Amino acid sequence: MGKIIAFCNQKGGVGKTTSAINVSAYVADASKKVLLIDADPQANATSGVGLDKKAERPGTYDVLMGLCSASEAVVAGPMDDLFVIPSHVALTGAEIELVDLPSREYRLTKALGAIRGQYDFIFIDCPPSLGLLTLNALVAADSVIIPLQCEYYALEGLSQLVSTINLVNNSLNPKLSIEGVILTMADFRTRLTGEVIKEVREYFKERVFQTIVPRSIRLSEAPGFGKPIMMYDKFSIGAIKYEKIAGEFLNNQKSLEPDVIRLDMADEEGPSVDIQNDINDGVTDKR
Ligand SMILES: Nc1ncnc2c1ncn2[C@@H]1O[C@H](COP(=O)(O)OP(=O)(O)O)[C@@H](O)[C@H]1O
Ligand SMILES: [Mg+2]
Repeated sequence: MGKIIAFCNQKGGVGKTTSAINVSAYVADASKKVLLIDADPQANATSGVGLDKKAERPGTYDVLMGLCSASEAVVAGPMDDLFVIPSHVALTGAEIELVDLPSREYRLTKALGAIRGQYDFIFIDCPPSLGLLTLNALVAADSVIIPLQCEYYALEGLSQLVSTINLVNNSLNPKLSIEGVILTMADFRTRLTGEVIKEVREYFKERVFQTIVPRSIRLSEAPGFGKPIMMYDKFSIGAIKYEKIAGEFLNNQKSLEPDVIRLDMADEEGPSVDIQNDINDGVTDKR
């Protein structure tokens, strides 16, 4: 039974899509069968894996509206083991159209029920809001990954996100948990980044991924080429960091389901982040 993980933060530009694409790619690269669902009308995950976001084909909108089954909306991604349910600007309408539909919060859950057994992991890239699209993702998900940008307002709105997750957990989806927090776009030359990291770790404790993603020009270029970072520049710092995060993610699954997940990608950084390493990495990534 595939585990469903939503990349969620109602703030825009924090690294949801970048994290969803690249964690999906590295987990698929580890021979896990992955489905990436683009649940954002902006369709950045769709174009970020090389699919035309204007193409007329079934996608997340059609699945939510019951116009097609989830399996009918699946298309092949840019690598073996990576499949995608693409988005389209039409998904904007879903936020409003869903309001009047029966079991409006459960539509994604129901649609995925038929196919989740075919995948090891299903990752959902959420839009920057806490509306019905995100709610459908949270109700369908087993866990949430929260990407956070290392900037001054990183923690702003976080309590609202956490209380939404708790609310869903208490009512619509009792199995929902927080998988982890990914700190992104870190600039280790600034004191602010260090302060944000400290504060986030105090709040989320061991739920924060040890590996921190620095600002990386290559990471911001890759979507323009429709490629996950591992296909665009696998030796860049962003690639190395997302590979480690995917390794941490898979490693964390081992303790939950030792018989199902077998993977040898343990993070060798140890329990504490080597910030000095990250500083060097961050500064060397100037290409
Ligand atoms: N680590 C990073 N370094 C540099 N740019 C990044 C990084 N992560 C994301 N970006 C860029 O920042 C912008 C916002 O990231 P994105 O993943 O789209 O955020 P969200 O999905 O939360 O809106 C995009 O242009 C993306 O390419
Ligand atoms: Mg996005």
